[in-house]
Amino acid sequence: MPMEATSKTAALSAPAREFLGRAPGRQFIGGEWLQPTDGATFQAIDPATGAPIADVAQGGPADVDRAVAAAREAFEGAWAKTSPSKRTGMIWALAEAIKANLPELAELESLDNGKPVTYAKGDMAAAVNHLRYFAGWPTKIEGETLPVSFPDAHVYTRKEPVGVCGQIIPWNYPLLMAIWKLAPVLATGCTTVLKPAEQTPLTALRLAELIADVGIPAGTVNVVTGDGSTGAAIVDHPGIDKIAFTGSTVVGREIGAKCGRQLKRVTLELGGKSPNIILPDADLDRAIKGSYAALYENTGQVCSAGSRLFVHSSLHDRVIEGLAEFAEQAKVGPGLSEDTELGPVVSAEQHERVLGYIDSGTSEGAELVTGGGVPAGNGISEGGYFVEPTLFTGVSDEMTVAREEIFGPVLVAMSFDELDEVAARANDTDYGLAAGVWTRDISSAHRLAAMIRAGNVYINNWGMGDPSAPFGGFKASGVGREKGHANLDAYLEVKTVTTRL
Ligand code: NAI
Ligand code: MG
Repeated sequence: MPMEATSKTAALSAPAREFLGRAPGRQFIGGEWLQPTDGATFQAIDPATGAPIADVAQGGPADVDRAVAAAREAFEGAWAKTSPSKRTGMIWALAEAIKANLPELAELESLDNGKPVTYAKGDMAAAVNHLRYFAGWPTKIEGETLPVSFPDAHVYTRKEPVGVCGQIIPWNYPLLMAIWKLAPVLATGCTTVLKPAEQTPLTALRLAELIADVGIPAGTVNVVTGDGSTGAAIVDHPGIDKIAFTGSTVVGREIGAKCGRQLKRVTLELGGKSPNIILPDADLDRAIKGSYAALYENTGQVCSAGSRLFVHSSLHDRVIEGLAEFAEQAKVGPGLSEDTELGPVVSAEQHERVLGYIDSGTSEGAELVTGGGVPAGNGISEGGYFVEPTLFTGVSDEMTVAREEIFGPVLVAMSFDELDEVAARANDTDYGLAAGVWTRDISSAHRLAAMIRAGNVYINNWGMGDPSAPFGGFKASGVGREKGHANLDAYLEVKTVTTRL
């Protein structure tokens, strides 16, 4: 692998370089690679340096319109004629294609998003597993025969694909979130217009190439690149039957309102401010290690991050000490360096936002235990969007850092004394995505699991996910579930067929 300090892309492998040479400025519509109708582009940026990587097409309403037409044609034509068994084969083949190109995809993801390349490899492996799980479903989507009470009747249900979907993807797990969206589309026989986030468009374009390679019919999956205005054009398009969105709660509310007016089906995976609770009898080493990863993994840019840590007062000082030690030892650096544990945040905008939250913590009177600044040295470029792993204690429930989603490497810790007290405080939030409990007492564990209003509760782990296990939010954290068979329902309509014999 040639390494040159002058250019980031010079350090890339040949396949990744070749991809950057051929694909980013075009969109994948109806099986073809098309220039944006009005020729507009934006730059993909390397968060480790702030330098541009490639020019990417800024899709406009005309591009969305073409993509929706292609998706409709496939939905009524080639994809509708593809048998469930063939769909299984294609989904499985796509999983194999990702596996075969895993190092290249991980490299592109690390370059575009900033995450450690080793971690990006884990994302790709999760994408493979996700597709393998969904590959089994096409042949198992069954209707029912109903025992109706009127005579001489035959009544049954059919589960039919909802139609053309619009899918809007976030930048924190670009390829994996695209796969979470695509897998149920392909399993149910829907088609889609998918838009990656403007911060991280590259791997979705590489994925489109793989989709073509495995023979999924043209128009089934269309990838349009662009920013929020492109996303809005997808949401507004009358030819789209269902929207699936992952991103901020602000945008999610707007999309939900628009879909309500248009009566489009909608699923939303939104933000969180998830409580992570360490009870007095926890296995301390495990709890500290797990609580550290619960927040700092992916540089804190995880919707289900364990971002509000509640520690029993008897353990508070030991836990804070242990977390600070991990944070101070963490290797912060560019994602493409093999030994990096914590990459930069994704963009200049996020960098400013996260540093702003750190300022608010300090000015509202929280105690800064470690971090709080921008790191330097150790191969860290000044133009990069780095933030030191930061830990606040002495945080009160009312502070901004305890209430708002920071989406960066900033953990806030609070102490508590009683189970009922911590449950009430954990629930005192608009969000309800995830929660964690560390304890050896099964009664407390399951009592808390029932008391907390959140879509995912982790006991003695944080974020152990599986494609079969539904994931999603209560309250302002979203509508609907991804993963598992619950995810399929969001892409299916139920038709009742009633026959008088
Ligand atoms: P965002 O919600 O603006 O962007 C997410 C996706 O939505 C992107 O693809 C974007 O182009 C698209 N989008 C933006 N505005 C849209 C609109 N009006 N209509 C349709 N699509 C639109 O999130 P942003 O600004 O990148 O990040 C802001 C905050 O959102 C973060 O600090 C974090 O708190 C949260 N967030 C949560 C994520 C999650 O996984 N739940 C992922 C990304 C961000
Ligand atoms: Mg935004």
